[in-house]
Amino acid sequence: MSPAFDSNFRDRLRMLFEWRRDVRHFRPTPLPPERLTALLELANLAPSVGLSQPWRFVLVEDPARRAAIRANFTEANAAALSAQEKGRAANYARLKLAGLDEAPCHLAVFAEPDPEQGHGLGRATMPETVAYSAAMAIHTIWLAARAEGIGLGWVSILDPTGVAAALDVPAHWRFIGYLCIGYPAAEDDTPELEREDWEHRRPAAAHLVKR
Ligand SMILES: Cc1cc2nc3c(=O)[nH]c(=O)nc-3n(C[C@H](O)[C@H](O)[C@H](O)COP(=O)(O)O)c2cc1C
Repeated sequence: MSPAFDSNFRDRLRMLFEWRRDVRHFRPTPLPPERLTALLELANLAPSVGLSQPWRFVLVEDPARRAAIRANFTEANAAALSAQEKGRAANYARLKLAGLDEAPCHLAVFAEPDPEQGHGLGRATMPETVAYSAAMAIHTIWLAARAEGIGLGWVSILDPTGVAAALDVPAHWRFIGYLCIGYPAAEDDTPELEREDWEHRRPAAAHLVKR
């Protein structure tokens, strides 16, 4: 029998959406390995083009590889800072845009661009759908993690070629994102970029056009 989701569940689900955050400040408490396994099991339920499950996860534990990712971020972030408009540079410099030093768990996410699984269904005209599928898996982990008090921060200020080299992954894999995972230092219902006055969430109607 299919489950019924009542209004109480929907209210709680909405709270989950509202209280999911991109987390950049973590407590040092380690993430038990079974929690990560459980999150990856849930990610596996995400939708994917042609049911191809093109996501590939790399658990980064080796200190030297983590250091290489850290150096990659530092360089990419410095380049991003120097590319800022004059009026925004000081504000950008104040932002904390990754929790690479504190996060106990580092998970790199890639997409297999041409998976055998799924027999190519759905991606002939839109090959980028494999990347979309991997992003769906990340979002699934993000929400599932929040539901059990685990925080996730998505780091994209990285040179993808450098990430692939640092992690020694197949050259054809497409880098999707680098995830910092652990127990958050604080909870909030407002994005950090709003709290830092970088950007503000706009109403849904602002992103809808009718034809
Ligand atoms: C594809 C993607 C890439 C992101 N890259 C970064 C990043 O490199 N550094 C960062 O601090 N936040 C990053 N974020 C997090 C966004 O800044 C964050 O989602 C947004 O400010 C809204 O905040 P919230 O997730 O707490 O609601 C990324 C989010 C997405 C979806």
